[in-house]
Amino acid sequence: MPDRYDLPAGFRWGVATAAYQIEGAVDEDGRGPSVWDTFTARSGAIRDGHTGAVACDHYHRHPEDIALMHGLGLDGYRFSIAWPRIQPTGAGPVNAAGLAFYDRLVDDLLAVGITPLPTLFHWDLPQALEDAGGWLNRDTAYRFAEYAAIVADRLGDRVPAWITLNEPFVHTVYGYAMGIHAPGRTLMFEALPAAHHQLLGHGLAAAALHERGLEVMLSNNLTPVEPATPSPADAAAAAAYDTLHNRLFTDPVLLGRYPDLAALGVPDDIFGAVRPGDLDLIHTPGLDGLGVNYYNPTRVAAPTDPGLPFDLLDIPDVPHTAFGWPVVPDGLRRLLTGLRIRYGTALPPITMTENGCSTTEDLDDTFRIDYLSAHLDALATTVAEGVDVRGYYTWSLIDNFEWAEGLFSQRFGLVHVDFATQRRTPKASYAWYRDLIAVHRARCAKEGSVTSP
Ligand code: BGC
Repeated sequence: MPDRYDLPAGFRWGVATAAYQIEGAVDEDGRGPSVWDTFTARSGAIRDGHTGAVACDHYHRHPEDIALMHGLGLDGYRFSIAWPRIQPTGAGPVNAAGLAFYDRLVDDLLAVGITPLPTLFHWDLPQALEDAGGWLNRDTAYRFAEYAAIVADRLGDRVPAWITLNEPFVHTVYGYAMGIHAPGRTLMFEALPAAHHQLLGHGLAAAALHERGLEVMLSNNLTPVEPATPSPADAAAAAAYDTLHNRLFTDPVLLGRYPDLAALGVPDDIFGAVRPGDLDLIHTPGLDGLGVNYYNPTRVAAPTDPGLPFDLLDIPDVPHTAFGWPVVPDGLRRLLTGLRIRYGTALPPITMTENGCSTTEDLDDTFRIDYLSAHLDALATTVAEGVDVRGYYTWSLIDNFEWAEGLFSQRFGLVHVDFATQRRTPKASYAWYRDLIAVHRARCAKEGSVTSP
């Protein structure tokens, strides 16, 4: 069986973070308010009333965080750009100080040999756009493309590849359908126009990035879906969930069409949101890479409550993370080989843009080491089976603001953060990841020198 050291030469190693989860400094240098500032102020929305107002104070401490990344020997760093720092109201004039922050970040990364991989939208929509309807408003897609062009014009000379959206599935379902995340709407399936408008925004932004000679990826949270039993009712429920979680967000981009949404009770035009020509705008720019965020598979049964077309079940007899998420490394292999079967030649090269786990342990995070090794071994098997995977960005560099779970309970970092002092302390997994990268690189260099003439 291949293992993680067998990943191909040139495979890119990285870590991932997101602006609202690490930056803090929400009122500084002209940043406008985002939906997350508003949502975290809502009583009871976030565990222990935490907010991202300070988070990891990365806005001021990024030199220390870049030094930590340099210590890992990374090829790339996936971070997100806070739209409200660039355009405080989501439209109109550019906030020069906000743009300058990312300009410095990019230069500081390049100075230590790390390629920046920015995500343009990781859920922190400017509040002014939310006040006008957020992603339920078609106009937000056009504003997003304008913002993408502004940032690309400034950084595109040094940043070759870009991710438009992070996890439109999670943003739509948690943010607009169930109200667990900002903006806290509870529209259930009527949230889906927000999905369409994000995809439209992706297509328009992708065209703007391509016009500037830049590569484009889209990162989604994908999950292999397994029916609880072979019964036709469970299989139908699993197919409905697969449509909602995976196909709704990937088919339009890769195939230029939506899957049949009838099982979700959603009309083909997604409540009037889909206009003639939209699918071309979403599909035609194409993707240079598909970003896959994988955490766990999903086990699905026929509904017991008629309100939804499926029930989501736990996966028994496997370890679970601090979040309670089942640990199933082979699910990653099944997910990626399933994508290759589903999309064939329409599937671009894959980059793992997130994978990791939360633990409650502090520095001796053997659970994380086991999780990451097993998933990277599964990834090596997948690559050996012929799936083109170019890189792996673990979630996350440092413990951070874990959305509805606040600051302390779900620690995803290779580096521990004491949120009272902002002291960073590398965990055992930090040294493990550093050594893995070094050994993999040395082995590839050795094999390269043996096979080259
Ligand atoms: C998100 C991250 C989040 C992580 C762990 C992903 O859904 O992109 O922002 O922290 O999972 O929950």
